[in-house]
Amino acid sequence: MQIDVCYTPDLIHQFDVTDKTVVVIDILRATSCMVAGLGSGVKSITPVATVEECEALGEAGYIMAGERGGKKLEQFQLGNSPFEYMQPEFKGTKIATTTTNGTRALELAKEAPEVIVGAFLNLKAVVEHLSKQSRDILLLCAGWKGKYNLEDSLFAGAVIDGLKKQASFDTDASIAAFYLYESMCKDIYYYISRSNHASRLSKFGILKDIEYCSKVDEFDIVPVLQGKELVVK
Ligand code: MLT
Repeated sequence: MQIDVCYTPDLIHQFDVTDKTVVVIDILRATSCMVAGLGSGVKSITPVATVEECEALGEAGYIMAGERGGKKLEQFQLGNSPFEYMQPEFKGTKIATTTTNGTRALELAKEAPEVIVGAFLNLKAVVEHLSKQSRDILLLCAGWKGKYNLEDSLFAGAVIDGLKKQASFDTDASIAAFYLYESMCKDIYYYISRSNHASRLSKFGILKDIEYCSKVDEFDIVPVLQGKELVVK
C-alpha cells in the first residue's frame, strides 16, 4: 500500500484517483464540520460545488450550509462552524453544503472507488479504516483557492505517521508531510493557530472553531461518500 499527498485540488490532474482511496482534508473547517455533524447524529451531508446547487437542495428539504471566503451565506441556515453542525436540532436531518475549498476537493475526488473525509477530530478512526483496506491512498488537501495550506498538510502527515508501519511513502510530497507532522505534533493547536487561514478566520471572531478543529479523536466515525452523500456506514 502506497500513500501520496496532493497538496491542493489544482494539482489533482497529476494523480490517477480511479484506483485509490482518497481522503479529503479541509481542517479549517469543512471536513471538521462534516465529522462533527455526522458524529453528532446528522443523517447525511451532501457536498456541492455551487451556491445554486445548494439552494436547489434547500428547496427539496435539505438544510443549507456553507460559506464563501469563510463567511456564512445569508440565505443559509448554517455557516461553516462545527458547533453549528453539532446542534441537537440537526440530528437526523440531511444537510447540503458548499464551501470555498472543501466541497470543491470532494467534487474532484468523486471518480475514486472510495472517498472518505478526514480531520483531526477523527484521525484515529481514519487511520484504522485505511489500515483495514488494501488500495493505494491519496491524501487530498483542500488548500486555499489552489494554494498550499499548513493545517491540511499537517493532517496528511498525521495519517502517514499512523500508517507508517503498514504503508510505504516515498514521494517528496509524502515525506515532507510526514516530517512536518513529526516536527509539529507536540502542539497541533499552536501551529494551526499560526496558519494563514486561522488569521483569515480570526476577523470573523471564530477562534473557538480553530481550537475545536485542532482537537484529536473526538469522534470515532469515518464519513464515506455514498453516491452524492456523505454518510457514516
Ligand atoms: C473551505 O472549504 O474553504 C473552508 O471550510 C473555509 C472555512 O473555513 O469556512
